[in-house]
Amino acid sequence: MGEPGSTKFQTDLRRHLRDSDVERNLVMLICELAEASKYIINSIRTGDLGVAGTSNLYGEDQLALDVLSDRIMQKRLKNSGVVASVVSEETDEIICFECEDGPCYSVAYDPLDGSSLVDVNLAVGTIISIHRGNNLLQKGRDQVAALYILYGPRTTLVYSVGDGVHEFAMNHLMEYTLTRENITIDNSGGIYSPGGQRNLYTSGTEKYVLSLEESGHKLRYSGGFVPDINQLLMKGKGVFFYPHLQGRPQGKLRMLYELNPMAFLVEHAGGAASNGCKPILDIEPSGIEMCSPVFIGSSKDVAAAEEFISAE
Ligand code: F6P
Ligand code: MN
Repeated sequence: MGEPGSTKFQTDLRRHLRDSDVERNLVMLICELAEASKYIINSIRTGDLGVAGTSNLYGEDQLALDVLSDRIMQKRLKNSGVVASVVSEETDEIICFECEDGPCYSVAYDPLDGSSLVDVNLAVGTIISIHRGNNLLQKGRDQVAALYILYGPRTTLVYSVGDGVHEFAMNHLMEYTLTRENITIDNSGGIYSPGGQRNLYTSGTEKYVLSLEESGHKLRYSGGFVPDINQLLMKGKGVFFYPHLQGRPQGKLRMLYELNPMAFLVEHAGGAASNGCKPILDIEPSGIEMCSPVFIGSSKDVAAAEEFISAE
């Protein structure tokens, strides 16, 4: 590995994984996911922006792009031969596959997070959580890897296998090459990204927001979870939250597909992720549909949120 934050062009994703002694089937799986993302980008750039006429487990209308991205991911995961089970934000069941030789993995993913932003041409992403074996209902701390792909002005892939957090950018040959290694987050930052409706915030969250504003934090919120988390990681500071709301105590974001993988990445960059009381990664998922409030980013800013919430 190079110096923290250093730039080492030309190292591609496969080589980086191999140089980091990542298990062979896991290398294959992560590279397969990187391949899938190339087809998803193509669908975003050229695909139908209409609705699919179906809804997901959360009652949200699915776009044709959601369904297509899900199919792309599922097919590649099935054909990889190293995946025992998958579940996605767009399906309502765990699907099991036959594995070939060696260790097998389970994958939870959000194929196209923020898809309602595609029609206004804002950034969206794919989020992936990987566990060893076939059990998808494990604590986030037991993940062996997490990654996301951000489809913005540039396409980037950020992964961790528990040994640093690394960013790759897609080049003109559609290869992912290393752009930042060992990304870190400072323990306090000057940026805040508040999700949900403020008039529905509980008193603790409202006081927390006022304290951030009084200390001069700047509002930076895109409405897409992947670009908002990517901002924290690449700026190396800040806090994102989508809190518990009045009438919606579990918030909106999903444990398996969104929160566990992002919490894994942010913790491995030296940040923190909490539901307001305890670390996201220590929560036992109650089911595939589980949602949770989240405060994630610079560790002191997350600790401050926990204090305000415990006093509400
Ligand atoms: O699917 C989740 C998501 O679209 C995230 O990308 C984003 O952070 C959040 O929902 C926005 O929620 P809302 O639509 O309530 O503002
Ligand atoms: Mn999503």
